[in-house]
Amino acid sequence: MTKPFLSTMLTLLSFVGLSQGYTHPSTHEVALSFFEPLPIVMKGAEQDSSALISLGKKLYFETALSINYSQSCNSCHNLDNDASGVDHLRASIGALGSVGERNAPTTWNAGLHVAQFWDGRAKTLAQQAKFPLFNAKEMAMTSESQVIERLNSKDYLADFKDAFPKKLSLINIENIAQALAAFQRTLISKDRFDDYLAGDKDAINQSEKSGLLIFIEKGCVACHNGAVLGGQLFMKMGIVHPYPNPKDKGKAQVTGKPTDNYFFKVPSLRNILITAPYFHDGAAATIEQAIEDTGWHQLGIKLNKQEVNSIKVFFNTLNNQKSIEVVPENK
Ligand code: HEC
Ligand code: HEC
Repeated sequence: MTKPFLSTMLTLLSFVGLSQGYTHPSTHEVALSFFEPLPIVMKGAEQDSSALISLGKKLYFETALSINYSQSCNSCHNLDNDASGVDHLRASIGALGSVGERNAPTTWNAGLHVAQFWDGRAKTLAQQAKFPLFNAKEMAMTSESQVIERLNSKDYLADFKDAFPKKLSLINIENIAQALAAFQRTLISKDRFDDYLAGDKDAINQSEKSGLLIFIEKGCVACHNGAVLGGQLFMKMGIVHPYPNPKDKGKAQVTGKPTDNYFFKVPSLRNILITAPYFHDGAAATIEQAIEDTGWHQLGIKLNKQEVNSIKVFFNTLNNQKSIEVVPENK
């Protein structure tokens, strides 16, 4: 893993270096060689009907999906209120009060990732959605029939009929997962960096452009690239200098392979300023800390205060400008 990664990185870096020396491409051209605008529609969403999406949205905010009616998906992936898609806790707290193992990633743009969870143990949004329902440290439901009973008692049948007009079996886990996935496929953020990539060269200011160039030149872009500045590959946390918390072995816990030790999905950096704290264990409380730490652990460099701040200024262009209107609950 390390070797092809390093050579890709060197290619990327020499590309920036060379192009600056000889052809002077604009910052905009350099940016477009690493990043791309967010899609208008998420892959897989083409067949999602509005009835399916609105059912998924209702379910996302449905507290009856947790054992004591205290928690919905939105409790840990908050889309109203501050609209960040996270809970701002180091590690999430479940319906019954137990503290989970990891920091909650945002649900914004999650469907654009190559897989779900820090360790990629769910391939798709629909597969992912089944985990929190039955996780004892999350929504803590005890059986599929219990989930179905809860939704039956809240008059969901008509919603499921509309969402699944061709199916005979309506309220079941598979359909719940499909609906939650369809709703989450609508969660594509919108920000000024996106406007910039799409062609509005004045959408970000001069100091934000300088920060963008530092982010590229320092090599952050080797892992954080594409439409969501991440989400596409798994990399070792501590590739140069080991990460101080060795407890969570990441992908190795799923595959059982020692070569996957401490590999985590490279997180997206869209919305990054509003999703503190950072890392799989929530150990970095501030963005400054997270930038410094990744410089050290992932690139083996000590970024100075000015560089850290400049990258932070660039991150300001990644704040989502969309919000979600909450639907009233079923009675
Ligand atoms: C108790 C808090 C909690 C609840 C409730 C919860 N989640 Fe999560 N969610 C998390 C945590 C923590 C993770 C990361 C776990 C991991 O990677 O092992 C996560 C991961 C995810 C991811 C993966 C995102 C990514 O970038 O990999 C998605 C999507 C998601 N949750 C959607 C949902 C949906 C849909 C529901 C409701 C059915 C839900 N969550 C309920 C805490 C929660
Ligand atoms: C070798 C690949 C790689 C490079 C290079 C890299 N990162 Fe990361 N980055 C990761 C991985 C993997 C994680 C997740 C680590 C974890 O949580 O344990 C991460 C996490 C982060 C986070 C926290 C995201 C969150 O939601 O918790 C930020 C911020 C970040 N990186 C910024 C940067 C910056 C700035 C640079 C350049 C100085 C950089 N990264 C370089 C792979 C990389």
